Amino acid sequence: GEFIKVSELANKMSIKSVELIKKMISFGIIATINQLLNQKTAQLIAEKMGHKVILYNKNDLEKSIICDRVIDNTLLKERPPVVTIMGHVDHGKTSLLDFIRSTRIAKKEAGGITQHIGAYQVKTKKGLITFLDTPGHAAFTSMRARGVKITDIIVLVVAVDDGVQPQTIEAIQHAKAANVPVLVAINKIDRIESDPEQIKHALMKHDIVPEEWGGDNIFIQVSAKTGKGIDDLLNLILLQAEMMELKAIDQGLARGVVIESYIDKGKGPIATILIQEGTLKKGDIILSGCSYGKVKAMTNEVGKNINKAIPSLPIVILGFSSLPEIGSVMYALNDEKKARELAIYRQEKNRENKLDKNRRLKLDNIFENM
Ligand code: GTP
Ligand code: MG
Repeated sequence: GEFIKVSELANKMSIKSVELIKKMISFGIIATINQLLNQKTAQLIAEKMGHKVILYNKNDLEKSIICDRVIDNTLLKERPPVVTIMGHVDHGKTSLLDFIRSTRIAKKEAGGITQHIGAYQVKTKKGLITFLDTPGHAAFTSMRARGVKITDIIVLVVAVDDGVQPQTIEAIQHAKAANVPVLVAINKIDRIESDPEQIKHALMKHDIVPEEWGGDNIFIQVSAKTGKGIDDLLNLILLQAEMMELKAIDQGLARGVVIESYIDKGKGPIATILIQEGTLKKGDIILSGCSYGKVKAMTNEVGKNINKAIPSLPIVILGFSSLPEIGSVMYALNDEKKARELAIYRQEKNRENKLDKNRRLKLDNIFENM
């Protein structure tokens, strides 16, 4: 079974450990602050002290969330690819995204409001594509550490007049570690007589090999300024996606990832979520790490209200009670109480972990000062 330290139990009852130890003595139990109590004993003590005991088993709770989902391969449906544009500073990532956004998203849809969210979906003749604004590499790393995969394809932007640079290489390493295919967009070809051959050679050193040389990587020359090659880029992305046979279940409770989050002074916590599974509906109970809530409003990249979101669609959500962490997984649940309990449980766990860490740090300091 589960065990709990005397100090942790005291913590949960919001009393000092000494008080608990004294109380336990009065019950005939002699224990030290670090002693482990089994679940039954801890429960008895807490109840004797007038507390209502709620037993949590993180694994069970997490499992029960997952089990709410129908897992049936015949329900898998094709979904649009999720694409991240990466590359060295100033090589044109934002320009490329902006060009695609401005040419592919009808302005009239926006209703005059232009919001800059970290993800958007575009419609092309051959299909939908979801783009993510380059998350900082830190966010990327944290998602990978949690085993959260968000991007299907990485478009590596290399400016033709600057060539392969440190962050180009870093992006390749991220792609390799995440096992995501890389499509190379040689950018700024309007600027100079391009010499993509040289870039191809430089990238070969990092295991990025063009298809025409027997490798796996598609190369395309573009200009984010004139728009040259961008339609081809979109087509090639869809071609790559087709080979990958990207699928997801689009029924049942949703699962997604927090792409960005911030506090709006008037509206409270706002999060951009990329839906990965199921359908998220207005009014759904949601849980992400230590935050939970209810979807009060959902909007797309142009601020239009939507009632349902299916896989690969990025949406902006209003309704979290606190700020969800970027990179964390979001679940929709059909039980508000469970969402709240799990959120509180995780908050406590986090607090304990932090305390433990602080203690360790203090110990380290002691040793350093000796
Ligand atoms: P960071 O976000 O700082 O890493 O840069 P970025 O990769 O987003 O580059 P950004 O889109 O900001 O472009 C950098 C500069 O290059 C800007 O001055 C752009 O106008 C310019 N630029 C981007 N693409 C092109 C292009 O295709 N042709 C030309 N001539 N200029 C470009
Ligand atoms: Mg940029």
